[in-house]
Formats: sequence, C-alpha cells, structure tokens
Amino acid sequence: MLKITVIELSEDIYWIGANIHTEDLFEGIWPIPNGVALNAYVVKGEKIALIELVREWGGAAQTLINNLESLSISFDDIDYIVLNHLEPDHTGFTNMLKLLAPNAEIVTTQKGAALVDGFFGITSNIKIVKTGDELDLGKGKKLKFAEIPNVHWPETMVTYEEDSKILFSSDAFGSFGVHKGCIFDDETPDSNKSYWEDEMLRYYANIVATFSPMVLKAIDTLAGLEIKMIAPSHGLVWRGNPGAVINKYIRYANYNKDYAEPEICVVWGSMYGNTETMLNAVLRGIAKEAVPIHLHRVPNVDPSFVLADAYKSAGLVIGAPTYEYGMFPPMKYNLELFQKKHIWYKKVAFFGSYGWSGGALKDFESLSERMKWEILDPLSFKGHPTSEELKQGEELGRKIASQVKNIPSKIKDEEF
Ligand code: FEO
Repeated sequence: MLKITVIELSEDIYWIGANIHTEDLFEGIWPIPNGVALNAYVVKGEKIALIELVREWGGAAQTLINNLESLSISFDDIDYIVLNHLEPDHTGFTNMLKLLAPNAEIVTTQKGAALVDGFFGITSNIKIVKTGDELDLGKGKKLKFAEIPNVHWPETMVTYEEDSKILFSSDAFGSFGVHKGCIFDDETPDSNKSYWEDEMLRYYANIVATFSPMVLKAIDTLAGLEIKMIAPSHGLVWRGNPGAVINKYIRYANYNKDYAEPEICVVWGSMYGNTETMLNAVLRGIAKEAVPIHLHRVPNVDPSFVLADAYKSAGLVIGAPTYEYGMFPPMKYNLELFQKKHIWYKKVAFFGSYGWSGGALKDFESLSERMKWEILDPLSFKGHPTSEELKQGEELGRKIASQVKNIPSKIKDEEF
C-alpha cells in the first residue's frame, strides 16, 4: 500500500520525509515513546535536489520513494542529494539511492565527504561545498550553504534556499516526537504545544547539549539571513514563528551556563529503603520553599528523561546509597551521562546511606569534580537515618530550595 505524505512548504519545495513510530532506541540509547520524524525535502528547479534523506526504519525508505513518485520525480531526475549531516538517521538510505540514481551528485562538506566514504564507500560524484557556496537549480531556486560544525557532528552544514528563504537546518532546531497530523508550528493546536516543548528539550539534552557553544555560534553565523521558515531534519517545520524555535535553542544552549530554571531535579535510588527514608525528609524541606520538583527514581526512570529535567533545573538533588564500596551503579551511570552532556553550573545536594563502609560519597565527589557545581555539605549516614539525621536532611532540602527559588525563569516570548 502506498503511503503518500508529501507536504508543500513553498512553490516547488516539499517535505517528503517519514514519521517513525517505534520502540527502538534512538542512537541505540534513547527511548522515543512518541517516535521521531525523519524530515527530508525536495527542491525542484530546472534541476532537482533532495535535502536530507532517511534511514530504512519503519518503512521510511519506501515512504520516501513513494513520496517522490507522487511528485512525478523519477530517480533519473534527481541531480543532487544534499547531505547536511552524515549521521545515519538521515543518510542510511544513501547506499540504495546511489544505486537508484547513480548520476546524482552528493553535496556535502569536506568532512562530510570523508564520512560518505567511511559509511558508504562512495568516493565519486561528490560535490564539496563550504560556507558561502551556492548551487543554482534554475527556475529561481538557488541553494546556499553554511557550515555549522558540531551541531551535531563536525561535518554539519545548513542549506538555505534563497527564493523561499527556507533554512534547512539539519539537527539544529530539531526534536524527538512524530508529527501529530501537522508538520507546521502554526497548525499545531495549543493542546500539543507542551508535547513539543518536552520532546524538544529532551532531544536537546540527549543529543545536542554537549555542543551548546557551537549552537550559539551557529545562530550567530545565521544571524544575517532573512529566514521565513526553518525546516529541521527532526520535529516541526517552523513557518509561523521561526524566531520562537531560535529563542528556545538559545535558552537550551544557555542551560549549561549559569542560566537554568528555578526548579529542582531530584534523582534518587534506594536498595532497602534507608536512602528513600532520607529522600522523604529532603522533599519535605524542598516543599517548605514551594519550589517545583522533578522526581526521578533510578534505574526505574530512563536517563533520557532524567537528563532533560536535570539539564533545565537550577537545583539538583542526588540521593544514592553505597553499593559494593562505590555508588549505586544506576546513579553512577546517570552521573557519567551528566558529565558527558555537560549538566553544569547547578546547585547540588547529595545524600545516601551506607552499611559497612562508605563509597557512594567518594564516587560522587570524583564524578562531580569537573561539573562546575556548587555543592552543599553532603549527608552520608550509616544504615537507617536517625531522627537527628532526618532533621539535617529536611534542612538540606530547605537550603537548596531557598537558593533556587528566586532565580528568574527564562521561559518567555517563545509562544508559537
Ligand atoms: Fe539526526 Fe545527528 O542526526
């Protein structure tokens, strides 16, 4: 059965991508219970360019083929395959497409060409472009390229179509989540907006956060362009208010500076209820200051969701017992991801129970060394917490909450 889902962005420019509903993990790590959109596009001048592809995933390759057929584009008609970014979620279909359209030229950066060889063994029919280069497709359609290295990989670039003023932005301004019946921001009902905010933030924290300085640099690089629409390779296409998604990404990129929201992410694990008893005391303390709490138990909650809330929150509370002379392993894994994803500049509290000897605190101190955290006096206790220790726990919660609660929220002027 044909699944034709072409959507016009502008005259002779179409979305030809696919929505993936899957229980697979994105990048083999991150759960995507709401799926993900693999956005691909076609620009038709006298010459025809595809911008981004898909990977074979949930029928995406066949969908893209069907979509091209529905536009009466045969494979012989394709002149260029523009690969802004070589991660295989966008390029997995390259091998097959080169067989179907052997004369099409792959357009990518110098570094992208090395990955086209590395992933697909393709070394011919490649057009290498750099910032400022243009590709005239005829009939008024002209593509212009700008490198935005490390958003998300070093070879990444964006493509700007001058006539329509559409920016094909690759992973930048992207999101997890499938389209819920519409691809544009200005067709999204208000009831779906929190869905997109959550999925965008989680995508950013999981995939992009490490590269935040490069995100801000890329936004500077693109500042001179008149942008009427932003068409990323995941998530919504921003037609009504492209400035809103730029502002969201500026906010996200600043979250790993001293810029987060007045909220506390509490991440905890417990083996036999002793650390859990202290957790309840700490939560009582936080509640006294009425600061919003995101509560995640590990390993029950996947780190993907923990990262998103930890990333945006100014306060971070870690509750972890000792396990075999070290930190409870699921918490250790979460903290290693915090290091990798630059969950920096937080106000942090730590508590945890131990039996024969400590160890969780030692690991916490070592893991937090380069995180630029402001850490309150940790609370490490033997076995079940005493009444006195529970009072200290409540005070620890109150103290971190009082430090966080007057931080101004950064969420503003981003409605779409
Ligand atoms: Fe969507 Fe970095 O690939």
